[in-house]
Amino acid sequence: MTEPVQTPQTFAPRIFSGIQPSGGLTLGNYLGALKRFVEKQDEGIETIYCLVDMHAITVWQDPAKLRQQTREAAAAFIAAGIDPKRSILFNQSQVSAHAELGWIFNCVARMGWMGRMTQWKDKTAGKNAEAESLGLFAYPSLMAADILAYRATMVPVGEDQKQHLELTRDIAIKFNHDYGVSFFPVVEPIIEGAATRVMSLRDGTKKMSKSDPSDQSRINLTDTADVIAQKIRKAKTDPEPLPDHLDGLKDRPEARNLVNIYAALSGHSAAKVIHDFAGAQFGTFKPALADLAVAKLEPITTEMNRLMQDPAEIDRILGEGAVRADAIARPILEQVYDIVGMVRSRPV
Ligand code: TYM
Repeated sequence: MTEPVQTPQTFAPRIFSGIQPSGGLTLGNYLGALKRFVEKQDEGIETIYCLVDMHAITVWQDPAKLRQQTREAAAAFIAAGIDPKRSILFNQSQVSAHAELGWIFNCVARMGWMGRMTQWKDKTAGKNAEAESLGLFAYPSLMAADILAYRATMVPVGEDQKQHLELTRDIAIKFNHDYGVSFFPVVEPIIEGAATRVMSLRDGTKKMSKSDPSDQSRINLTDTADVIAQKIRKAKTDPEPLPDHLDGLKDRPEARNLVNIYAALSGHSAAKVIHDFAGAQFGTFKPALADLAVAKLEPITTEMNRLMQDPAEIDRILGEGAVRADAIARPILEQVYDIVGMVRSRPV
């Protein structure tokens, strides 16, 4: 007899999300994820945030750089407002439950599911997929483990992670079904706000990404005020002034992107931004956007640089977070081993 699969409402609400510490964080990561992680921290729900260093090594990472970037990403979280006392902040490799549950999910998920992931297809497009790491192929299975090791119910992410979260739901449903339990929640993606998909400053049809070869395409959280202003000034646009209605941005991806960035940074809706700047030329709008971006990002960059002066303190915070994360994940994992039929007899 199989029990019905529980809906998320029957699980205690818990928020989990992660960011890869490969390359520096971008304005896309900040607006699509980090800024919203901070907002979630104030909503009275437990929040767990993870620097997914094991996902990072699915493509080659220089070890010294990976260590540095993991600390830098942790500094960015704290500088942006994540309070390591109120939220749990740690790096993935320090909590082995992720890898252990990831293996179990490798045995639940199907090869076909992984092969259909658009990120896998994009990353292997025009390349020899046979030469990619097995980890890159199984990446979404480990991501499901990140979330479900805590039986998290809500996952704030940018739009590009939507398909991975659907796969997390599929894995939870199949696990529950195969073992006749209602053990894992079916998670809810939280994809909201004005900047769920921040686009490249050079091409409004491409996502802003840390892996784009052109540094001009993105704003990095480590960029100085001058560099931020210069990148916005040089951002690709069209010759038309801003319209007086959102519909007027429909076929203008670059203009729409800058309006969305302004909206997300200012905390207003895109409709309000268009209302305020109706008829403005980019010669007016871009300096206003640059001023706003510098005003919002410069304090974060300054604080990040200050925190990076004391890497031992960052390591201490991550280690403490890992202990708290492990205390939640380990008992859940033990139950999973039991459900799956593993003998657990090691004296403790
Ligand atoms: P990653 O490291 O690529 O990105 C981290 C977060 O930033 C968001 N993001 C963006 N949002 C808006 N516009 C953009 N241009 C942009 N670029 C990135 C992403 O949507 C994401 O929310 N697979 C994940 C990491 C991960 C994870 C998890 C996330 C691993 N395990 C468990 C949530 C839950 C990734 O590569 O994100």
